[in-house]
Amino acid sequence: MSLAAEAMEAGRSRARSMNLRTTKGVTIKIRDFRAEDLKSVVEIDRASLLGGSAEIYAELAGLKTAVSGAGEVGAYAEVFLVAERNAEVVGFIVAVPFSAVASRIFALAVHPKHRGMGIGKALLRAALNELRRLRKSFVRLEVRESNFIAQNLYKSMNFTEIGYIPFYYWDGEGAIVMQKVL
Ligand SMILES: CC(C)(COP(=O)(O)OP(=O)(O)OC[C@H]1O[C@@H](n2cnc3c(N)ncnc32)[C@H](O)[C@@H]1OP(=O)(O)O)[C@@H](O)C(=O)NCCC(=O)NCCS
Repeated sequence: MSLAAEAMEAGRSRARSMNLRTTKGVTIKIRDFRAEDLKSVVEIDRASLLGGSAEIYAELAGLKTAVSGAGEVGAYAEVFLVAERNAEVVGFIVAVPFSAVASRIFALAVHPKHRGMGIGKALLRAALNELRRLRKSFVRLEVRESNFIAQNLYKSMNFTEIGYIPFYYWDGEGAIVMQKVL
């Protein structure tokens, strides 16, 4: 077992899991990612056109060794949470280290059938709380300039625009860089 997998295993003994009602009144459970969630996470990623893969999420979760190289992330997640609705995984969020004091939201997605119910916001809020617990001072992310829904979500959680990266995505679209002080 890799060091990261051992760390994830140790963290799991703390069994972070909470039931909550979203701002839209939907009951969900938010909990740490488990290996058996991989298929659901990849399906939600695909349905959300995020471009991730089983290999990348396995690496982020510490289920395989993280190595820097083409198509790989080269980092383990410091936060990897999933949202369950009626015992089905319907969304997830992953944050990776950006520096000693900062973290980066690597991916956030909710299955299209379960959007607009407050699940994305609940996942983001839970991840930010977890990053505060890890004593991170900042969180940042990149979002497609055309992705107004995600930008609205981040603005509603007091993220501010701090930059723009042209041609950031594979199809040439630029990214807006957003940051929040934790
Ligand atoms: C972005 C995403 C995670 C939001 O998840 P969600 O569960 O549908 O979002 P929520 O219901 O929690 O809504 C949170 C906020 O997002 C914004 N939002 C959600 N749906 C919206 C819509 N159809 N139009 C405009 N804004 C919208 C609003 O600001 C909303 O807050 P409010 O309800 O208080 O107004 C989801 O749309 C998704 O998975 N998109 C594809 C993947 C993606 O773009 N990820 C982000 C990459 S940076």
